[in-house]
Amino acid sequence: MADGGGGVKVVGLTKRFGTVAAVDGIDIDMPSGEFFSMVGPSGCGKTTTLRMIAGFERPDEGQILLDGVDVAHVPPHRRSVNTVFQSYALFPHLTVGENVAFGMRYQKVPKVDIRRRVAEVLALVQLKGYEERRTTQLSGGQQQRVALARAIILNPKVLLLDEPLGALDARLRKDLQVELKTLQQELGITFVYVTHDQEEALTMSDRLAVMNGGKVEQVGTPQEVYDAPETRFVAEFLGVSNVLEGVCDGRGGITVGSFGLIAGAGALRESGTLRAVIRPERVVVEATGTSGPNRLPGMIERVVFVGSTSDIRVRLATGELVRSLVANGGAAAISYEQGTPVSVLLPVEGLRILHS
Ligand SMILES: Nc1ncnc2c1ncn2[C@@H]1O[C@H](COP(=O)(O)OP(=O)(O)OP(=O)(O)O)[C@@H](O)[C@H]1O
Ligand SMILES: [Mg+2]
Repeated sequence: MADGGGGVKVVGLTKRFGTVAAVDGIDIDMPSGEFFSMVGPSGCGKTTTLRMIAGFERPDEGQILLDGVDVAHVPPHRRSVNTVFQSYALFPHLTVGENVAFGMRYQKVPKVDIRRRVAEVLALVQLKGYEERRTTQLSGGQQQRVALARAIILNPKVLLLDEPLGALDARLRKDLQVELKTLQQELGITFVYVTHDQEEALTMSDRLAVMNGGKVEQVGTPQEVYDAPETRFVAEFLGVSNVLEGVCDGRGGITVGSFGLIAGAGALRESGTLRAVIRPERVVVEATGTSGPNRLPGMIERVVFVGSTSDIRVRLATGELVRSLVANGGAAAISYEQGTPVSVLLPVEGLRILHS
């Protein structure tokens, strides 16, 4: 298999289309062998970044380094990089084997070696023995595996994947997520994975970059960006976040309305009007009148059943709506009926002040 991964580094990378900066001076370091994801809303510049790394698009500014070498003047097929797209772009008139062998079109390799290599990569993507099938006789998931096989047949050091599971249904997506992650570990090469699905990015990646408007908002491990979002955008993009505005004292105290709270993370030294965030799974809804620090009075406004959990929405006395995620199954300690007055605990360690 591949002889180790390729490191990708982009420095000040910028691409403009007319006056719009689709990618606006981003710096990302993707060490070799890493499963790295770029996640962000539609139009934030993910595909454009990937196309520049692949060599299909020329940067206006900045550098792309593959294993430390600037590849500005290296054409796409000479970069040890290959791409898998959302639309598989398979040839309907060719068999599976011929489609996969197409990845070797620039190579002068004896037919028998090609045949052996095709069989090897088909086995890797769980399609052993499918050589003679027509691609039109395959399911969506199988077609995407053929596209993958075609992309890895040349042992690229870096595989770029642009929403490769975007066209598949939820169930198949989940299966292929696991397969892709396993494949990446087996090959030991760098995967640069683009998705707008935050859950997918969190479950599959070693590290990820959250992008917004052509810029990188934050880079980190899934746990870092989920637990310690640096901006409101990151907090809200990666799952639901409760956001409370208040006045901070520069020592971790934040006053929301007339209630004083203590935050345990984030910009604890900053003062003035700032925002604090807390994940719904950290918020505890208790019986009204429960006393103690970091509690606010409120009233149940709505309860949304979501299968294994319930999403409880409480209107605080300060006016804000706070959501709490409670596991279903056990007997509920209190009634969550609409209109019930409650006490909402925002635990210190879950409350995080965002930089201004
Ligand atoms: N060839 C082009 N000409 C003009 N504008 C473009 C071109 N390609 C992309 N853009 C613009 O650049 C911005 C970034 O596009 P890009 O395709 O990189 O977004 P994306 O993050 O991949 O979005 P999506 O999740 O929808 O695929 C968008 O505003 C888009 O309209
Ligand atoms: Mg895109």
